Amino acid sequence: MATDQKDRYTRVAMALHWLIAILIFALFAIGWYMVDLPRGPDRSANFALHKSVGLTVFLLAAVRIGWRFFHRPPPHDSLVPAWRVTAARSTHLLFYVLLFLQPASGYLSSSFSGYETKVFGVPLPQWGWLDAPLNELFTEIHVMSSVLFVVFIGIHICGALSHGLSRNDGVLRRIIPW
Ligand code: HEM
Ligand code: HEM
Repeated sequence: MATDQKDRYTRVAMALHWLIAILIFALFAIGWYMVDLPRGPDRSANFALHKSVGLTVFLLAAVRIGWRFFHRPPPHDSLVPAWRVTAARSTHLLFYVLLFLQPASGYLSSSFSGYETKVFGVPLPQWGWLDAPLNELFTEIHVMSSVLFVVFIGIHICGALSHGLSRNDGVLRRIIPW
């Protein structure tokens, strides 16, 4: 089935989707790797990188939500069953919530860790303090939302690939720039 320009996401939406997706894959890889490292410079460097990339995603997510507000996604082809459209929309809504909750909980956990939070070496204003229970609470929220995130990323990718590979109904092409 041919995909018209009006049936596709805008170039900015596509760029933000893929840039954020790549950074999130990197954040999972660094996040899972760094938590098992022994205390030392390697662990600190990976935490610092994770925090910097995570805060970059926070900013990009804000830009993306702003862009999404003024640019509605293309309507779905009437051949796509209604339950699939509802499932996709609910997953997308959850992603927008997680794109906020995941970095926000990480930032709050970091703010109550007693350490300065830096973005690529630049310190952010330090308003938090060392508070073990608050640090633990936000760390738990961060870890639990990462589990929810990874489950729904799996569902999202399986859905996208089933459209692109077996159904070939143009849904995957809506977000691919070529
Ligand atoms: C979308 C953005 C983010 C994603 C997808 C993400 C993902 C993850 C993952 C998968 C882990 C490992 C969890 C585990 O123990 O299994 C982790 C840990 C962690 N993240 Fe993030 N993260 C993000 C943003 C941030 C930000 C912005 C900060 C702080 C500024 C941050 C701080 C931390 C910290 C401190 C840990 C270690 C928690 C612990 O001690 O167990 N993260 N993150
Ligand atoms: C961390 C990874 C990812 C996240 C957080 C994510 C998030 C999202 C979100 C929020 C949307 C909805 C955009 C909107 O309508 O405003 C979307 C659409 C889409 N994504 Fe992803 N995505 C990720 C990875 C992927 C991957 C790896 C693929 C392909 C294998 C993919 C394929 C698609 C497709 C085809 C759409 C359009 C669906 C439709 O028009 O109903 N995504 N994604």
